[in-house]
Amino acid sequence: MKFSIITFGCQMNVADSNWLCLALRKRGYEFTSNPDEADFVLFNTCSVRQKPEQKVYSEVGRLRSIWRKNANFFVGIGGCVAQQVGMGFFERFPYVRLVFGTDGIYMVPDVIGQLIVYPQKKISLISFEEFYPEREKVFPEKAPASVFINIMQGCDNFCAYCIVPFTRGRQKSRTKDAVLSECIEFVERGAKEIVLLGQNVNSYGQDKFGDGTSFVELLKDVAKIKGLKRLRFTTSHPKDLSKELIYLFGELDVLCPHLHLPLQVGSNKILKKMGRKYTREKYLSLVEQLRKIRPDMAFSTDLIVGFPGETRDDFEQTLDMLRLIEFENAYSFKYSDRPGTRAEKMANKVPEPEKQERLVELQELQEKITQKKYMARVGEKEEILLENVKFDSKLENRTFRGRDLWNRVVNVQIDEQTLACELVHVKIVEAKKHSLLGKVLNIL
Ligand code: 5AD
Ligand code: SF4
Repeated sequence: MKFSIITFGCQMNVADSNWLCLALRKRGYEFTSNPDEADFVLFNTCSVRQKPEQKVYSEVGRLRSIWRKNANFFVGIGGCVAQQVGMGFFERFPYVRLVFGTDGIYMVPDVIGQLIVYPQKKISLISFEEFYPEREKVFPEKAPASVFINIMQGCDNFCAYCIVPFTRGRQKSRTKDAVLSECIEFVERGAKEIVLLGQNVNSYGQDKFGDGTSFVELLKDVAKIKGLKRLRFTTSHPKDLSKELIYLFGELDVLCPHLHLPLQVGSNKILKKMGRKYTREKYLSLVEQLRKIRPDMAFSTDLIVGFPGETRDDFEQTLDMLRLIEFENAYSFKYSDRPGTRAEKMANKVPEPEKQERLVELQELQEKITQKKYMARVGEKEEILLENVKFDSKLENRTFRGRDLWNRVVNVQIDEQTLACELVHVKIVEAKKHSLLGKVLNIL
């Protein structure tokens, strides 16, 4: 039997889908990237922004034609939208026979068999567990160059605009042993880079599910793994970024000089209304401390425009922060109401056209900054970790995507010789709008 997986949203969802794929293949199901060929399709959904439910409904609706041709075809829906809509999916689509939340995903590979044996059966796995549900250990024979490792689930912060604490539940940390053994296994199978994942990694271990290990201790232990070349983590909350963690950027060789640190907005008034628990001054001081320890430190961020009550002056303070910090990249979004959040009930919503104008203005400014930073890289020689290197013998030269130490995307043309090697030394020859172009100097 063949299956397909369609993933929306964050890196956590990507990591979840990767695991699901491995666990299903281990049970003998065959993966296909074409849903039309599949006997069942799983969705991993996201509800952080905009109209995600509509998007999922339309994507799931498109699969109706497969079900018309094959009455045994079925769909499973996981992730944040499944957590919210739950069994509502069963009423809407006769061929949706499974819904699962983040805490239910560990049971999915086993229940697929039941859905196949009992064609009338529908299964819902959306309750939150009172423990971190460790998943079956499955590893690919050859690991990708870069792997995501989940270190925790959920979030306790309840930022006023955010739905995550409702859809992913309270923060639950994995134990250090569970995280470390997974990291070791992937590195032994060839992974060069590990990206530790969590909604708020800085508060890893500070919940009743952890084993008392702090995030700094965890990083120190992961950094010791033999063969590991690069270590990253995301996402960090500025309020929990400790001095010890800042110092670590000067201590651990494998820790990459890049930090994704969501700022959201530059106005203290709006930060307070968002419940972010830091000020612009505190954020600036974190950046300054990190740059003191690692002068080449690169930052990326998340920004929201048009939060309820945001005035033109508030917005300009966000622009001001962009100029002051000079982020390498910024992911910017228009504020959107999420059901059940505090911000949904706030007065003084910003009209849509104003949000749109602010977004365009902010993105134009950031693009100039990104361009300036990328142009400054031209001529530099640096190490690139290539992702998903595959070689098609019919083509002489192929361009592969990689990343530099600072997490910038660098596209590199490689030939048959460089094929087997994921780490290459390149010279940056061109700056594009969202990426750099590198020419291979030698294989590392
Ligand atoms: N509206 C707009 N952006 C949001 N984000 C989270 N919730 C919302 C919302 N309701 C953004 C934040 C967060 C990123 C993952 O998504 O910037 O850091
Ligand atoms: Fe959402 Fe805030 Fe938690 Fe991030 S820290 S997941 S923005 S509640």
